[in-house]
This record gives sequence, C-alpha cells and structure tokens, in this order.
Amino acid sequence: MIRLENVSKIYDGNIRALEDINLSFNEGELVILKGVSGSGKSTILSLIAGLSKPTEGEIIVDGKKISKLPDHFAATYRRDNIGIVFQKYNLIAELTAEENVLLPLFPLNLQREEMQKKSSKALAMFSIEHKAKLVVRNLSGGEQQRVAIARANVNEPKIILADEPTANLDEKLSREFIEILRELKSQKRTIVVATHDPLFFELDFVDRVVNIEHGHLI
Ligand SMILES: Nc1ncnc2c1ncn2[C@@H]1O[C@H](COP(=O)(O)OP(=O)(O)O)[C@@H](O)[C@H]1O
Ligand SMILES: [Mg+2]
Repeated sequence: MIRLENVSKIYDGNIRALEDINLSFNEGELVILKGVSGSGKSTILSLIAGLSKPTEGEIIVDGKKISKLPDHFAATYRRDNIGIVFQKYNLIAELTAEENVLLPLFPLNLQREEMQKKSSKALAMFSIEHKAKLVVRNLSGGEQQRVAIARANVNEPKIILADEPTANLDEKLSREFIEILRELKSQKRTIVVATHDPLFFELDFVDRVVNIEHGHLI
C-alpha cells in the first residue's frame, strides 16, 4: 500500500540523505527501519507522511502519488491517513492531555460530543484516561508518550509512523510501548518504526527489519 520508487532526497543541494530507494510496505505490516543516526530513517518517515517531497522518485500510497500533492492536499492526506509518534512527543506542554489528543480533530468539523468520544476512546486505549485533565508538563515521560500515541491514534489512521519512539524511555517504559505496538498491529494498522533500539529487533510480531546505511538499503 506504501511504495517508494527510486526515491532520492538531497537536502540543501548537496546532502544526499537517500539514494535511489525502492521499498514497499504492505497493509497491516509492521516494519522496523534500522540504522544509526544520520542514515536516513527520519527522512523516509517524513516522505511517507507527506511532510517533505523527494528530490527524485515517487511515493505512492494506495495508488496515489503523494509526492506530487501540493502542500494543502498533502496536509489533508496526512490528516486522513497518518498518525505520527515523534521521539520528543511534540505535545503542547501547557495544554491538558485531553486537549492535546483533541487537536487533530479540530479540522474535521465534528460535533463536540463526537470529538469527546473519540478522545476518550484514544486515551482509554492507551491507559492514560485518568490523566486526561492534567497539563502535559506535569506528566512523566512514559505518560507523555502515551498521550502522544493517543493523539497519533485519535483519527484511527491506517498508517502509524514512529520515529525513535523509545529514545527517551527507560527499558520498562520501552517494553510498555512495544506492547502498545503489538495492540496496534493486531488492529491491522500499517506501522513503520524508525529505531536503533535493540529491543525491537527480536519481536515475534515484527514482519521485517529493513537496514539502512548512508541513505542506502543494505
Ligand atoms: N532538514 C534537513 N536539512 C539538511 N540536512 C538534513 C535535514 N534532515 C536531515 N538531514 C541530513 O540527512 C541525513 C539523514 O538524516 P535523517 O533522515 O534525519 O537520519 P536518521 O533519522 O536516520 O538519523 C543526515 O546527514 C542529516 O544530517
Ligand atoms: Mg531520525
């Protein structure tokens, strides 16, 4: 369902982040993108999310060339299809957990109750509903991670992208995050995780580990 065809990404005219990448992700598949810092993992995720465009090649999602979409349509594509979990959570520290989770819903023009229902469901799914009314700044790292996942999931996106999701978590919280992934996988989401955390490499529910080095698949 996601295809990168002959994709290259060059930043600032001379930083070759990706070089002629051919890579597909099937529906419901959980794939780990493995590589050291600077190998091109985040670049692949941002291309799939429509946050940036390849210098060459195409990104095709469900038959649509998203690499050709004008920015406005790329934003709509992202809103309707993609949930992103970042390493640094990208939560708004001064808002409550619930308000953070509600944010992606505002452009959808839903009824207030419908929004409330969706956010409660997402917070409950990741066992953080008891902190819904707390300001994110006052939550622990693990709790913030749960809020970030609830926010990424509130639209029930088909595709979930996670960029070094355990980089700021200790081993116990990292294992909890892995259980969350297992749950998302069982819901048939397509999941791509960029990481070099060894905890991810031996999981029985991971379909594939893709190795990336200096912008090349190896
Ligand atoms: N916005 C950017 N501008 C310039 N260079 C960038 C930018 N983003 C990434 N790079 C460079 O592209 C390469 C790949 O980066 P990245 O995709 O972030 O790798 P990873 O996520 O594996 O650490 C690195 O050399 C990085 O410095
Ligand atoms: Mg990165």
